[in-house]
Amino acid sequence: MIDFWKIKSALYQNFRQVFPFKQILRQENQSFIRFFDKINLVSELVLDIGTGHGNGLQLIKSHFTSGQNRTNFTLDNEKKDFIDAKNNKNVYLIGVDRSASMLKSARNIQTGVFVQADALVLPFKDESFSIILAIGLVEYLKNKRLFLKEISRILKSGGKVILTISPMNLFSFFRFFYGLRLFLISSKSFEILIDQFNLKIQNKSKTVMQIQYLLYKV
Ligand SMILES: C[S@@+](CC[C@H](N)C(=O)[O-])C[C@H]1O[C@@H](n2cnc3c(N)ncnc32)[C@H](O)[C@@H]1O
Repeated sequence: MIDFWKIKSALYQNFRQVFPFKQILRQENQSFIRFFDKINLVSELVLDIGTGHGNGLQLIKSHFTSGQNRTNFTLDNEKKDFIDAKNNKNVYLIGVDRSASMLKSARNIQTGVFVQADALVLPFKDESFSIILAIGLVEYLKNKRLFLKEISRILKSGGKVILTISPMNLFSFFRFFYGLRLFLISSKSFEILIDQFNLKIQNKSKTVMQIQYLLYKV
């Protein structure tokens, strides 16, 4: 079966290298890095939902394995699985995506453990994670309420979530024309929803293509 996600995302990976997307992406990443600076990452599981090619995992990994942020990453995709990760006292990266082909390419590029699952039914126990990423995912989910309920369920109290929504602007409409089925939501409506699932906003940042949130669970 043809996986349109794979075709579109291959194009997207190429877009990322050219003007103006390269500049926009750099701005987005700088803002994520400011969020990472507010996270104390020691002995944790990091979950990236809608991981795609694993770009979010790569970003957090390079941030915490370089310079003064250096922490103790032990990643071995061959030998470790989710259970091993839970028993260890190191940081493990777990990527989830519903597309098997996206996961295949993530496995080829990134280190980490990759699991095929739907963001609305995540195969993890309650309060498993301290850090969850969901970058570029929410606009593809019709049922945002169920998604927020699910991440609140698997997040530990005090845990952090970095997620993005798409603003209602020309860039998002361009994605409609590109054939992507988006379910856009205004930041105002989204923030009302967040509040219903014990999630609070710690930081917020805007770029032309994303509204980025750093949330914590109360
Ligand atoms: C725009 S890509 C974002 C990829 C990556 N997070 C990044 O920032 O580069 C969206 C990803 O979400 C995945 N996705 C869409 N709906 C999903 C769902 N219901 N459950 C899990 N993954 C989903 C797609 O397969 C795709 O890989």
